[in-house]
Amino acid sequence: MQKISRREWLSGSTAIMGTATIAALTAPQKSLSAPKMIEMPEPDDHVVDILAMGGNENPYGPSDKAKQAILTAFHELSRYNFALPQELKVVVGGIHNISPDHIEIGAGSNEILRSVALIAAQNKQAVLAADPTFYSLYRHSQDHGSNTIFATVKEDMILSLDAMRRAMTNDVKVIYICNPDNPIPSIIGKNELREFCIEMSKRAIVIIDEAYAEFCENPDFGSMIDLVQDGHNNIIVTKTASKIYGLAGLRVGFAFAHPDLIKTIMLHKTSSSRMSGGVAMHAAIAAYKDSDYLDFMRKNTRASLKIAYDMFEEMNIPYIKSNTNFTLFDAGIATAEVGQRMLKHNIKVGRPFPPLKTWVRLSMVRTEQMPRFVEAYKKEFG
Ligand SMILES: Cc1ncc(COP(=O)(O)O)c(C=O)c1O
Repeated sequence: MQKISRREWLSGSTAIMGTATIAALTAPQKSLSAPKMIEMPEPDDHVVDILAMGGNENPYGPSDKAKQAILTAFHELSRYNFALPQELKVVVGGIHNISPDHIEIGAGSNEILRSVALIAAQNKQAVLAADPTFYSLYRHSQDHGSNTIFATVKEDMILSLDAMRRAMTNDVKVIYICNPDNPIPSIIGKNELREFCIEMSKRAIVIIDEAYAEFCENPDFGSMIDLVQDGHNNIIVTKTASKIYGLAGLRVGFAFAHPDLIKTIMLHKTSSSRMSGGVAMHAAIAAYKDSDYLDFMRKNTRASLKIAYDMFEEMNIPYIKSNTNFTLFDAGIATAEVGQRMLKHNIKVGRPFPPLKTWVRLSMVRTEQMPRFVEAYKKEFG
């Protein structure tokens, strides 16, 4: 196993990705002059061999700059660092042209979604959501005694905002919309959604989950953060470092909202963003400054999707064009059966998304790994 010197490591002159050895300093004071090297084990072979196509994760991991930041942050493992979350808010706020007092950091955007779920549950009020959509918010509010009102997505697989309007009741405290959506990777056009947010935020908190927005190259898509900037005080937008930035394991996500609503969200969180983990903060700051990485990810995701689409076309399989890093196709047989049969090929796919019975959500893997999926799928179902 190759070792790198501390000087090489600190200067970044050794390629981090190419080596299986990661050096780290241990006891902070003494080890500065006499570093002790920690060898990272090689990943387990069988873990590497499995194609994870069920979890919408980033198959490339974070950018090299984020990885370098993580290594450098090893120096600070024993520290609280109250300044870093604010620094991250400034960086992310700069990207979205919004001031840090309109931003709260969560342990993933999931922590924000669950906090907003508690706002609805507090007085046993309801959540309005599409069916299907990402379940985290409404399920957490159900766990706390709140009711969910669903607007069912019809066979055309497009969420109708009019159906959401019709389903609205006076009990609803929170309206959750995921855009681009999950598991259906479609979008609601920016003008239509903007109108809906302005209208409905007079009656309830409207939360727009933009976890996959950075993948979306559809000109009809638009972030709703500008509504927050414009002073609409009952709208929340969430974003995450987990998807295109590849930092799912470090748990960093964001809420963008009017400062008063940010305070309400903070009240419902159990952790304080001032105490966010330093390694995660350093990594996210570096990741959000590295816009080249987004281009790399978009290009590769596009190429992987093309391979999936070509297979669908060739096999006459109905599918939904993606605005994200995953697609959705109709296998024509039970989703669970697809999962079981693909697992024989070490490919993990086929999470259930009721009420969809035969549709399979397929997360993209590295472009060079896609032919392995195509080959296995054709062997099983061709
Ligand atoms: C639509 C959507 N929102 C939010 C999340 C939560 O992500 P995280 O907590 O890692 O930010 C996910 C995770 O898969 C998701 O698909």
